[in-house]
Amino acid sequence: MKNNQGNSAPKSKSIERFSRSGFILAAIGSSVGLGNMWKFPYITGKHGGAAFFLLFIVCLIIVGLPIMLAEMTIGRGGRGNASISFVNLTGKKYWGAFGLLSILTAFMIMSYYAVVAGWTLHYTIESFTGLLFQSGSDYKAKFTTFAAGYWPIFWQAVVMLISGWVIAKGVSGGIEKFNKILIPGFLIILLILMFRSLTLPGAAEGVSFFLKPDFSKLDAESALIALGHAFFSLSLGMGCMLTYGSYVDKKQSLGLATLAIGLGDLVYALIAGLVIFPTVFSYGLAPGEGVGLAFMALPVAFSQMPFGSFFGGLFFLLLAIAALTSAISILEVPVAYAISKWKWSRAKAAVIVSVLCFLVGIPAGLSVGGVLSPFQLGGKGIFDLMDFITSYVLMPIGGLIVTLFTGYAWKRAGEEAGLTGFWYRAWMFLLRFVAPILIVFVFLYSVGLIKV
Ligand code: PFF
Repeated sequence: MKNNQGNSAPKSKSIERFSRSGFILAAIGSSVGLGNMWKFPYITGKHGGAAFFLLFIVCLIIVGLPIMLAEMTIGRGGRGNASISFVNLTGKKYWGAFGLLSILTAFMIMSYYAVVAGWTLHYTIESFTGLLFQSGSDYKAKFTTFAAGYWPIFWQAVVMLISGWVIAKGVSGGIEKFNKILIPGFLIILLILMFRSLTLPGAAEGVSFFLKPDFSKLDAESALIALGHAFFSLSLGMGCMLTYGSYVDKKQSLGLATLAIGLGDLVYALIAGLVIFPTVFSYGLAPGEGVGLAFMALPVAFSQMPFGSFFGGLFFLLLAIAALTSAISILEVPVAYAISKWKWSRAKAAVIVSVLCFLVGIPAGLSVGGVLSPFQLGGKGIFDLMDFITSYVLMPIGGLIVTLFTGYAWKRAGEEAGLTGFWYRAWMFLLRFVAPILIVFVFLYSVGLIKV
Protein backbone atom coordinates (compact mmCIF):
# COMPACT_ATOMS: atom_id res chain seq x y z
CA MET A 1 0.00 0.00 0.00
CA LYS A 2 1.34 3.37 -0.93
CA ASN A 3 0.68 6.31 1.24
CA ASN A 4 2.03 9.05 -0.91
CA GLN A 5 -0.46 11.69 0.18
CA GLY A 6 0.56 11.77 3.78
CA ASN A 7 -0.28 15.45 4.02
CA SER A 8 -3.95 14.60 4.20
CA ALA A 9 -3.59 12.19 7.10
CA PRO A 10 -4.45 13.81 10.40
CA LYS A 11 -1.41 14.88 12.40
CA SER A 12 -1.06 13.11 15.69
CA LYS A 13 -2.11 16.16 17.68
CA SER A 14 -5.37 16.60 15.83
CA ILE A 15 -6.43 12.98 15.35
CA GLU A 16 -10.20 12.85 15.38
CA ARG A 17 -11.70 9.58 16.53
CA PHE A 18 -15.01 8.03 17.43
CA SER A 19 -15.26 5.76 20.44
CA ARG A 20 -16.48 2.24 19.59
CA SER A 21 -20.08 2.74 20.58
CA GLY A 22 -19.93 6.34 19.36
CA PHE A 23 -19.12 5.16 15.88
CA ILE A 24 -21.97 2.63 15.77
CA LEU A 25 -24.45 5.17 17.10
CA ALA A 26 -23.30 7.89 14.71
CA ALA A 27 -23.53 5.50 11.75
CA ILE A 28 -26.99 4.37 12.83
CA GLY A 29 -27.91 8.03 13.21
CA SER A 30 -26.76 8.57 9.66
CA SER A 31 -28.57 5.64 8.14
CA VAL A 32 -31.80 6.02 10.09
CA GLY A 33 -33.27 9.16 8.64
CA LEU A 34 -36.07 10.56 6.58
CA GLY A 35 -35.43 7.57 4.36
CA ASN A 36 -36.72 5.22 7.08
CA MET A 37 -39.40 7.40 8.58
CA TRP A 38 -40.78 9.21 5.58
CA LYS A 39 -39.67 7.60 2.30
CA PHE A 40 -39.73 3.92 3.31
CA PRO A 41 -43.37 3.86 4.51
CA TYR A 42 -44.68 5.59 1.43
CA ILE A 43 -42.76 3.54 -1.10
CA THR A 44 -43.67 0.36 0.80
CA GLY A 45 -47.31 1.45 0.76
CA LYS A 46 -47.13 2.08 -2.97
CA HIS A 47 -45.35 -1.12 -3.89
CA GLY A 48 -47.41 -3.69 -2.09
CA GLY A 49 -46.44 -3.65 1.59
CA ALA A 50 -44.83 -6.76 3.06
CA ALA A 51 -43.52 -8.26 -0.17
CA PHE A 52 -41.67 -5.02 -0.86
CA PHE A 53 -40.28 -5.04 2.66
CA LEU A 54 -38.81 -8.51 2.09
CA LEU A 55 -37.26 -7.38 -1.14
CA PHE A 56 -35.74 -4.42 0.63
CA ILE A 57 -34.16 -6.79 3.18
CA VAL A 58 -32.64 -8.88 0.38
CA CYS A 59 -31.20 -5.74 -1.24
CA LEU A 60 -29.75 -4.62 2.08
CA ILE A 61 -28.01 -7.96 2.55
CA ILE A 62 -26.62 -8.63 -0.91
CA VAL A 63 -25.77 -5.09 -2.00
CA GLY A 64 -26.10 -2.63 0.88
CA LEU A 65 -24.03 -4.30 3.57
CA PRO A 66 -21.10 -5.33 1.32
CA ILE A 67 -20.82 -1.75 0.02
CA MET A 68 -21.14 -0.28 3.48
CA LEU A 69 -18.27 -2.46 4.70
CA ALA A 70 -16.26 -1.49 1.62
CA GLU A 71 -16.80 2.24 2.23
CA MET A 72 -15.82 2.06 5.89
CA THR A 73 -12.79 -0.06 5.02
CA ILE A 74 -11.58 2.44 2.42
CA GLY A 75 -12.03 5.30 4.90
CA ARG A 76 -10.17 3.57 7.70
CA GLY A 77 -7.42 2.21 5.44
CA GLY A 78 -6.99 5.47 3.51
CA ARG A 79 -7.26 7.64 6.64
CA GLY A 80 -8.68 10.56 4.77
CA ASN A 81 -11.71 12.19 3.22
CA ALA A 82 -13.93 10.67 0.54
CA SER A 83 -11.52 11.63 -2.23
CA ILE A 84 -7.99 11.35 -0.90
CA SER A 85 -8.53 7.96 0.76
CA PHE A 86 -8.74 6.34 -2.67
CA VAL A 87 -5.45 7.97 -3.68
CA ASN A 88 -3.76 7.10 -0.39
CA LEU A 89 -4.55 3.44 -0.95
CA THR A 90 -3.47 3.10 -4.56
CA GLY A 91 -1.25 6.08 -5.35
CA LYS A 92 -3.43 6.71 -8.40
CA LYS A 93 -4.69 10.26 -8.72
CA TYR A 94 -7.70 9.47 -10.92
CA TRP A 95 -9.37 7.56 -8.10
CA GLY A 96 -9.38 10.85 -6.23
CA ALA A 97 -11.43 12.38 -9.02
CA PHE A 98 -14.00 9.61 -8.69
CA GLY A 99 -14.11 10.24 -4.98
CA LEU A 100 -14.71 13.90 -5.62
CA LEU A 101 -17.94 12.98 -7.32
CA SER A 102 -19.28 11.54 -4.08
CA ILE A 103 -18.42 14.75 -2.25
CA LEU A 104 -20.42 16.68 -4.80
CA THR A 105 -23.28 14.21 -4.33
CA ALA A 106 -23.23 14.75 -0.57
CA PHE A 107 -23.28 18.49 -1.08
CA MET A 108 -26.31 18.22 -3.35
CA ILE A 109 -28.18 15.83 -1.07
CA MET A 110 -27.60 18.09 1.89
CA SER A 111 -29.09 21.06 0.11
CA TYR A 112 -32.47 19.43 -0.50
CA TYR A 113 -32.47 17.09 2.52
CA ALA A 114 -32.37 20.22 4.69
CA VAL A 115 -35.62 21.34 3.07
CA VAL A 116 -37.56 18.27 4.25
CA ALA A 117 -35.74 18.34 7.59
CA GLY A 118 -36.96 21.92 7.90
CA TRP A 119 -40.57 20.88 7.25
CA THR A 120 -40.31 18.38 10.11
CA LEU A 121 -39.15 21.10 12.53
CA HIS A 122 -42.05 23.33 11.51
CA TYR A 123 -44.54 20.48 11.91
CA THR A 124 -43.10 19.51 15.31
CA ILE A 125 -43.68 22.98 16.66
CA GLU A 126 -47.10 23.35 15.04
CA SER A 127 -48.18 20.00 16.49
CA PHE A 128 -47.06 20.55 20.06
CA THR A 129 -48.58 24.02 20.12
CA GLY A 130 -51.86 22.61 18.79
CA LEU A 131 -51.81 24.96 15.79
CA LEU A 132 -51.73 22.12 13.31
CA PHE A 133 -54.73 20.19 14.53
CA GLN A 134 -57.80 22.34 14.33
CA SER A 135 -61.16 20.81 13.63
CA GLY A 136 -62.20 20.84 10.02
CA SER A 137 -58.67 21.47 8.78
CA ASP A 138 -57.73 20.44 5.29
CA TYR A 139 -54.23 19.05 5.89
CA LYS A 140 -53.42 18.74 2.25
CA ALA A 141 -54.14 22.41 1.72
CA LYS A 142 -52.23 23.30 4.89
CA PHE A 143 -49.13 21.50 3.73
CA THR A 144 -49.34 22.83 0.20
CA THR A 145 -49.71 26.40 1.40
CA PHE A 146 -46.84 26.02 3.84
CA ALA A 147 -44.49 24.38 1.32
CA ALA A 148 -45.30 26.98 -1.31
CA GLY A 149 -44.42 29.90 0.96
CA TYR A 150 -41.13 31.29 2.27
CA TRP A 151 -41.16 29.75 5.76
CA PRO A 152 -39.49 26.54 4.53
CA ILE A 153 -36.39 28.62 3.78
CA PHE A 154 -36.29 29.83 7.36
CA TRP A 155 -36.54 26.25 8.69
CA GLN A 156 -33.95 25.09 6.21
CA ALA A 157 -31.61 27.73 7.63
CA VAL A 158 -32.31 26.41 11.15
CA VAL A 159 -31.39 22.89 10.02
CA MET A 160 -28.15 24.13 8.49
CA LEU A 161 -27.38 26.10 11.65
CA ILE A 162 -27.85 23.09 13.94
CA SER A 163 -25.96 20.73 11.64
CA GLY A 164 -23.13 23.21 11.08
CA TRP A 165 -22.84 23.81 14.82
CA VAL A 166 -22.63 20.10 15.64
CA ILE A 167 -20.04 19.52 12.92
CA ALA A 168 -17.98 22.50 14.08
CA LYS A 169 -17.73 20.92 17.54
CA GLY A 170 -15.81 18.00 16.09
CA VAL A 171 -16.08 14.26 15.68
CA SER A 172 -16.23 13.14 19.30
CA GLY A 173 -17.29 16.44 20.87
CA GLY A 174 -19.98 17.15 18.29
CA ILE A 175 -21.14 14.31 16.05
CA GLU A 176 -20.69 11.52 18.62
CA LYS A 177 -22.20 13.48 21.52
CA PHE A 178 -25.20 14.61 19.49
CA ASN A 179 -25.98 11.04 18.40
CA LYS A 180 -25.42 9.61 21.87
CA ILE A 181 -28.08 11.91 23.24
CA LEU A 182 -30.55 11.77 20.39
CA ILE A 183 -30.55 8.13 19.28
CA PRO A 184 -31.72 6.65 22.61
CA GLY A 185 -34.36 9.41 22.86
CA PHE A 186 -35.39 8.57 19.35
CA LEU A 187 -35.91 4.90 20.22
CA ILE A 188 -38.03 5.78 23.25
CA ILE A 189 -40.31 8.04 21.18
CA LEU A 190 -40.55 5.40 18.49
CA LEU A 191 -41.61 2.74 20.99
CA ILE A 192 -44.24 5.02 22.55
CA LEU A 193 -45.66 5.71 19.10
CA MET A 194 -45.58 2.05 18.14
CA PHE A 195 -47.52 1.15 21.27
CA ARG A 196 -50.05 3.91 20.51
CA SER A 197 -50.50 2.83 16.94
CA LEU A 198 -50.74 -0.92 17.64
CA THR A 199 -53.47 -0.35 20.22
CA LEU A 200 -55.70 1.66 17.87
CA PRO A 201 -58.95 -0.01 16.79
CA GLY A 202 -58.43 -1.82 13.46
CA ALA A 203 -54.63 -1.73 13.80
CA ALA A 204 -54.37 -5.40 12.80
CA GLU A 205 -55.27 -4.62 9.22
CA GLY A 206 -52.31 -2.26 8.97
CA VAL A 207 -49.98 -4.81 10.54
CA SER A 208 -51.08 -7.46 8.09
CA PHE A 209 -50.63 -5.08 5.14
CA PHE A 210 -47.09 -4.43 6.29
CA LEU A 211 -46.08 -7.92 7.38
CA LYS A 212 -48.11 -10.42 5.32
CA PRO A 213 -46.47 -10.68 1.93
CA ASP A 214 -48.47 -10.87 -1.27
CA PHE A 215 -45.91 -11.50 -3.95
CA SER A 216 -48.34 -10.91 -6.78
CA LYS A 217 -47.97 -7.21 -6.03
CA LEU A 218 -44.27 -7.24 -6.87
CA ASP A 219 -42.89 -6.31 -10.23
CA ALA A 220 -39.48 -5.50 -11.60
CA GLU A 221 -39.99 -1.84 -10.81
CA SER A 222 -40.47 -2.66 -7.12
CA ALA A 223 -37.15 -4.51 -7.15
CA LEU A 224 -35.32 -1.55 -8.62
CA ILE A 225 -36.94 0.87 -6.22
CA ALA A 226 -36.04 -1.43 -3.31
CA LEU A 227 -32.41 -1.47 -4.38
CA GLY A 228 -32.27 2.28 -4.87
CA HIS A 229 -33.79 2.75 -1.46
CA ALA A 230 -31.31 0.35 0.17
CA PHE A 231 -28.59 2.72 -0.99
CA PHE A 232 -30.28 5.82 0.28
CA SER A 233 -31.29 4.25 3.54
CA LEU A 234 -27.80 3.02 4.38
CA SER A 235 -26.26 6.37 3.37
CA LEU A 236 -24.14 4.78 0.66
CA GLY A 237 -22.56 6.02 -2.53
CA MET A 238 -21.72 9.51 -1.35
CA GLY A 239 -18.73 9.12 0.90
CA CYS A 240 -20.59 9.28 4.18
CA MET A 241 -19.70 5.87 5.62
CA LEU A 242 -16.23 6.32 4.15
CA THR A 243 -15.71 9.59 6.00
CA TYR A 244 -17.09 8.16 9.26
CA GLY A 245 -14.89 5.09 8.70
CA SER A 246 -11.81 7.29 8.62
CA TYR A 247 -12.46 8.17 12.28
CA VAL A 248 -12.62 4.55 13.43
CA ASP A 249 -9.98 2.92 15.55
CA LYS A 250 -7.95 0.12 13.92
CA LYS A 251 -9.01 -2.30 16.65
CA GLN A 252 -12.73 -2.01 15.96
CA SER A 253 -14.27 -4.79 13.87
CA LEU A 254 -15.77 -3.22 10.78
CA GLY A 255 -17.61 -6.43 9.89
CA LEU A 256 -19.50 -6.45 13.19
CA ALA A 257 -20.10 -2.71 12.93
CA THR A 258 -21.63 -3.23 9.48
CA LEU A 259 -23.97 -5.89 10.83
CA ALA A 260 -25.00 -3.73 13.77
CA ILE A 261 -25.67 -0.70 11.55
CA GLY A 262 -27.57 -2.73 8.95
CA LEU A 263 -29.66 -4.36 11.63
CA GLY A 264 -30.28 -0.98 13.25
CA ASP A 265 -31.49 0.48 9.97
CA LEU A 266 -33.79 -2.48 9.40
CA VAL A 267 -35.25 -2.47 12.90
CA TYR A 268 -35.99 1.24 12.67
CA ALA A 269 -37.64 0.77 9.29
CA LEU A 270 -39.69 -2.09 10.74
CA ILE A 271 -40.84 -0.04 13.72
CA ALA A 272 -41.57 2.96 11.47
CA GLY A 273 -43.85 0.69 9.44
CA LEU A 274 -45.52 -0.50 12.62
CA VAL A 275 -46.12 3.10 13.66
CA ILE A 276 -47.48 4.24 10.33
CA PHE A 277 -49.55 1.46 8.75
CA PRO A 278 -51.77 0.59 11.74
CA THR A 279 -52.52 4.32 12.10
CA VAL A 280 -53.20 4.66 8.39
CA PHE A 281 -55.61 1.70 8.34
CA SER A 282 -57.24 2.53 11.64
CA TYR A 283 -58.29 5.95 10.30
CA GLY A 284 -59.21 4.72 6.84
CA LEU A 285 -56.38 6.52 5.04
CA ALA A 286 -54.73 5.28 1.85
CA PRO A 287 -51.40 3.45 2.42
CA GLY A 288 -50.15 4.33 -1.06
CA GLU A 289 -50.72 8.05 -0.53
CA GLY A 290 -47.17 8.80 -1.71
CA VAL A 291 -44.91 11.64 -0.64
CA GLY A 292 -47.70 13.29 1.32
CA LEU A 293 -48.24 10.33 3.66
CA ALA A 294 -46.47 11.92 6.64
CA PHE A 295 -47.35 15.56 6.11
CA MET A 296 -50.84 15.37 4.63
CA ALA A 297 -52.41 12.03 5.53
CA LEU A 298 -51.17 11.28 9.04
CA PRO A 299 -52.24 14.64 10.52
CA VAL A 300 -55.81 13.58 9.72
CA ALA A 301 -55.31 10.60 12.04
CA PHE A 302 -53.61 12.61 14.78
CA SER A 303 -56.34 15.23 14.73
CA GLN A 304 -58.93 12.55 15.55
CA MET A 305 -56.91 10.66 18.15
CA PRO A 306 -57.17 11.43 21.88
CA PHE A 307 -54.11 13.57 22.82
CA GLY A 308 -53.46 13.89 19.10
CA SER A 309 -51.35 17.06 19.46
CA PHE A 310 -49.03 15.19 21.76
CA PHE A 311 -48.73 12.08 19.60
CA GLY A 312 -48.54 14.13 16.42
CA GLY A 313 -45.85 16.29 18.01
CA LEU A 314 -43.89 13.20 19.02
CA PHE A 315 -44.19 11.82 15.51
CA PHE A 316 -42.80 14.94 13.86
CA LEU A 317 -40.13 15.25 16.55
CA LEU A 318 -39.11 11.74 15.63
CA LEU A 319 -38.85 12.74 12.01
CA ALA A 320 -36.85 15.83 12.96
CA ILE A 321 -34.34 13.86 15.04
CA ALA A 322 -33.98 11.26 12.29
CA ALA A 323 -33.38 14.03 9.78
CA LEU A 324 -30.84 15.92 11.88
CA THR A 325 -28.65 12.94 12.77
CA SER A 326 -28.52 12.09 9.06
CA ALA A 327 -28.00 15.67 7.97
CA ILE A 328 -24.87 16.05 10.07
CA SER A 329 -23.39 12.92 8.51
CA ILE A 330 -24.02 14.28 5.03
CA LEU A 331 -22.55 17.67 5.88
CA GLU A 332 -19.44 16.05 7.37
CA VAL A 333 -18.45 14.69 3.92
CA PRO A 334 -17.74 18.07 2.24
CA VAL A 335 -16.53 19.58 5.53
CA ALA A 336 -13.92 16.83 6.01
CA TYR A 337 -12.82 17.43 2.44
CA ALA A 338 -12.50 21.20 2.92
CA ILE A 339 -10.50 20.74 6.13
CA SER A 340 -7.88 18.54 4.52
CA LYS A 341 -7.86 20.14 1.09
CA TRP A 342 -7.62 23.79 2.08
CA LYS A 343 -6.26 23.31 5.61
CA TRP A 344 -9.19 25.22 7.07
CA SER A 345 -10.06 24.91 10.71
CA ARG A 346 -13.10 22.67 11.37
CA ALA A 347 -15.17 25.66 12.48
CA LYS A 348 -14.33 27.66 9.37
CA ALA A 349 -15.07 24.71 7.09
CA ALA A 350 -18.37 24.02 8.87
CA VAL A 351 -19.52 27.63 8.49
CA ILE A 352 -18.52 28.04 4.84
CA VAL A 353 -19.89 24.68 3.69
CA SER A 354 -23.16 25.13 5.63
CA VAL A 355 -23.72 28.56 4.11
CA LEU A 356 -23.01 27.25 0.61
CA CYS A 357 -25.33 24.26 1.10
CA PHE A 358 -28.02 26.57 2.34
CA LEU A 359 -27.70 28.84 -0.70
CA VAL A 360 -27.73 25.94 -3.14
CA GLY A 361 -30.75 24.49 -1.33
CA ILE A 362 -32.88 27.64 -1.55
CA PRO A 363 -34.12 26.91 -5.10
CA ALA A 364 -35.10 23.40 -3.94
CA GLY A 365 -36.99 24.88 -0.98
CA LEU A 366 -38.88 27.27 -3.25
CA SER A 367 -39.78 24.68 -5.84
CA VAL A 368 -42.32 22.54 -3.96
CA GLY A 369 -45.32 24.55 -5.07
CA GLY A 370 -43.43 27.80 -4.42
CA VAL A 371 -42.28 30.58 -6.73
CA LEU A 372 -39.77 28.36 -8.50
CA SER A 373 -42.16 25.49 -9.15
CA PRO A 374 -42.69 26.49 -12.82
CA PHE A 375 -39.02 25.62 -13.51
CA GLN A 376 -39.26 22.03 -14.60
CA LEU A 377 -37.23 19.54 -16.55
CA GLY A 378 -38.89 16.38 -17.81
CA GLY A 379 -41.89 17.09 -15.60
CA LYS A 380 -39.78 17.38 -12.45
CA GLY A 381 -39.32 20.52 -10.37
CA ILE A 382 -35.95 21.51 -8.87
CA PHE A 383 -36.50 19.60 -5.61
CA ASP A 384 -37.57 16.41 -7.38
CA LEU A 385 -34.74 16.73 -9.86
CA MET A 386 -32.15 17.01 -7.10
CA ASP A 387 -33.65 14.00 -5.36
CA PHE A 388 -33.79 12.02 -8.58
CA ILE A 389 -30.28 12.88 -9.79
CA THR A 390 -28.68 12.15 -6.43
CA SER A 391 -30.67 9.06 -5.36
CA TYR A 392 -30.95 7.31 -8.68
CA VAL A 393 -27.96 8.52 -10.67
CA LEU A 394 -25.12 9.88 -8.53
CA MET A 395 -25.45 7.53 -5.54
CA PRO A 396 -25.48 4.40 -7.72
CA ILE A 397 -22.42 5.71 -9.59
CA GLY A 398 -20.71 6.38 -6.26
CA GLY A 399 -21.61 2.88 -5.12
CA LEU A 400 -20.28 1.39 -8.33
CA ILE A 401 -16.98 3.19 -7.88
CA VAL A 402 -16.68 1.74 -4.38
CA THR A 403 -17.44 -1.82 -5.53
CA LEU A 404 -14.96 -1.66 -8.41
CA PHE A 405 -12.29 -0.08 -6.26
CA THR A 406 -12.60 -2.61 -3.46
CA GLY A 407 -13.29 -5.59 -5.69
CA TYR A 408 -10.63 -5.01 -8.30
CA ALA A 409 -8.25 -2.10 -7.71
CA TRP A 410 -7.29 -2.26 -4.04
CA LYS A 411 -5.71 -5.58 -3.24
CA ARG A 412 -5.56 -5.36 0.53
CA ALA A 413 -9.16 -4.63 1.37
CA GLY A 414 -9.69 -8.00 3.09
CA GLU A 415 -6.81 -7.36 5.44
CA GLU A 416 -8.11 -3.92 6.44
CA ALA A 417 -11.65 -5.24 6.85
CA GLY A 418 -10.38 -8.18 8.91
CA LEU A 419 -12.09 -10.74 6.68
CA THR A 420 -10.62 -14.09 5.70
CA GLY A 421 -11.81 -17.43 4.30
CA PHE A 422 -15.49 -17.80 3.50
CA TRP A 423 -16.51 -14.30 4.57
CA TYR A 424 -13.82 -12.70 2.46
CA ARG A 425 -14.77 -14.76 -0.59
CA ALA A 426 -18.46 -14.01 -0.13
CA TRP A 427 -17.76 -10.30 0.28
CA MET A 428 -15.62 -10.22 -2.86
CA PHE A 429 -18.17 -12.19 -4.85
CA LEU A 430 -20.90 -9.73 -3.95
CA LEU A 431 -18.65 -6.72 -4.61
CA ARG A 432 -17.19 -7.95 -7.86
CA PHE A 433 -20.25 -9.40 -9.54
CA VAL A 434 -23.60 -9.12 -7.79
CA ALA A 435 -23.54 -5.49 -6.66
CA PRO A 436 -22.09 -3.93 -9.84
CA ILE A 437 -24.54 -5.77 -12.10
CA LEU A 438 -27.54 -4.81 -9.99
CA ILE A 439 -26.38 -1.22 -9.68
CA VAL A 440 -25.95 -0.91 -13.43
CA PHE A 441 -29.52 -2.21 -13.86
CA VAL A 442 -30.91 0.34 -11.43
CA PHE A 443 -28.98 3.07 -13.14
CA LEU A 444 -30.08 2.17 -16.66
CA TYR A 445 -33.64 1.82 -15.49
CA SER A 446 -33.58 5.16 -13.65
CA VAL A 447 -32.30 7.08 -16.62
CA GLY A 448 -34.86 5.39 -18.84
CA LEU A 449 -32.43 3.33 -20.93
CA ILE A 450 -34.13 0.05 -20.07
CA LYS A 451 -37.79 -0.63 -19.45
CA VAL A 452 -39.01 -3.37 -17.13
N1 PFF B 1 -29.76 7.38 5.18
C1 PFF B 1 -30.46 8.62 5.29
C2 PFF B 1 -31.95 8.34 5.35
O1 PFF B 1 -32.36 7.18 5.29
O2 PFF B 1 -32.68 9.29 5.46
C3 PFF B 1 -30.19 9.58 4.19
C4 PFF B 1 -28.78 9.78 3.90
C5 PFF B 1 -27.91 10.12 4.95
C6 PFF B 1 -28.31 9.62 2.64
C7 PFF B 1 -26.57 10.25 4.71
C8 PFF B 1 -26.99 9.76 2.40
C9 PFF B 1 -26.14 10.06 3.44
F1 PFF B 1 -24.88 10.16 3.25
